[in-house]
Amino acid sequence: MADGAFPFPEFTPEVEAQTAAIRDKLRDKITPLEWRLQAPLIAEIQALKRERNAVVLAHNYMTPEIYHGVGDFVGDSLGLAIAAARSEAKIIVQAGVMFMAETSKVLCPDKTVLMPDLEAGCSLAASITAADVRLIRARFPGLPVVTYVNTTAEVKAETDVCCTSANAVAVVEWAAREWGVDRVILLPDEYLARNVARQTNVGIIAWKGRCEVHERFDAADIAEMRRAWPDAEILAHPECPPEVLAASDFAGSTAAMTDYVATRRPRRVVLITECSMADNIACEAPETEFVRPCNLCPHMKRISLTAIRDALREGRHVVEVDADVASRARLAVQRMIDLPRPERPARYDLVRAGHAVDVELI
Ligand code: 13P
Ligand code: SF4
Repeated sequence: MADGAFPFPEFTPEVEAQTAAIRDKLRDKITPLEWRLQAPLIAEIQALKRERNAVVLAHNYMTPEIYHGVGDFVGDSLGLAIAAARSEAKIIVQAGVMFMAETSKVLCPDKTVLMPDLEAGCSLAASITAADVRLIRARFPGLPVVTYVNTTAEVKAETDVCCTSANAVAVVEWAAREWGVDRVILLPDEYLARNVARQTNVGIIAWKGRCEVHERFDAADIAEMRRAWPDAEILAHPECPPEVLAASDFAGSTAAMTDYVATRRPRRVVLITECSMADNIACEAPETEFVRPCNLCPHMKRISLTAIRDALREGRHVVEVDADVASRARLAVQRMIDLPRPERPARYDLVRAGHAVDVELI
């Protein structure tokens, strides 16, 4: 019996034929024994999606059998929010964490959004409440509040505009222009705020939230990588501490890292982020060698093929967001979506040049 409510389906010749193309892609990532367990689940999920008019939105941190096997849309949190807004399916299954499922529900109030595991949270989303945001706003009247999408719907409802790591600099600069101010409140990730501050002249007021995965990297890790693999190109996520970014060759969202590898095709690369990123990109970049000093996100890793299959089969767990909260949060998320997506993480050259403007920490 599997860890979900239903037994594993069988690995039949039909299943083998239906999943052969995915198997080819994952050949180096999954052993034949694992494949005999995973392929029937993939085939069952594909059939359930067709039957129920459902799509799976899979974040870049999903394991390869989810990302390549059942994801209809894959990408970073900005890309998934845009995909949810455009989707014509009746049901969205969020293969990611709770704040992403809430964002989908906020953008698509008429669709059913299913979350395979309700415990898949995020340390950043847990770091701040709507009441905190109201207090911060009262302390800094007239300043726009920008929140990272890694927050609850209640927090988004208290804010002016959302951002992701892909567009944080652009959103902060937009908010400063729109409000006619030279300072912006950027919540709740302290390191993202510090990294944005280094790329703009807009003053940043920040909160002390941290990503429990990315805060564990430090500058000594990067120095060690450089010594061991001097020719490797080092790519870091903006949720890492600023000294990590300053020592890296490139910083960007999970999608920006994917683009970097796809377009520049480095011989050897180090991804300073969650473990599944490298596995997923490596399937499509056979000429690049990936060094993997990764950290696991325990929340993302709660999502499995079994949990996705059970979510579709049982219609669980339905994500609900209070209608008033959703309509206020939608404004903040939609404002972000309506801004053009920056092509490259802007102004990263300023980080390298040591433009070390500090933040005001609340
Ligand atoms: P991205 O927006 O880069 O996908 O990041 C989301 C996330 O949770 C990273 O830890
Ligand atoms: Fe949250 Fe960090 Fe996990 Fe992303 S990696 S979901 S920011 S805890």
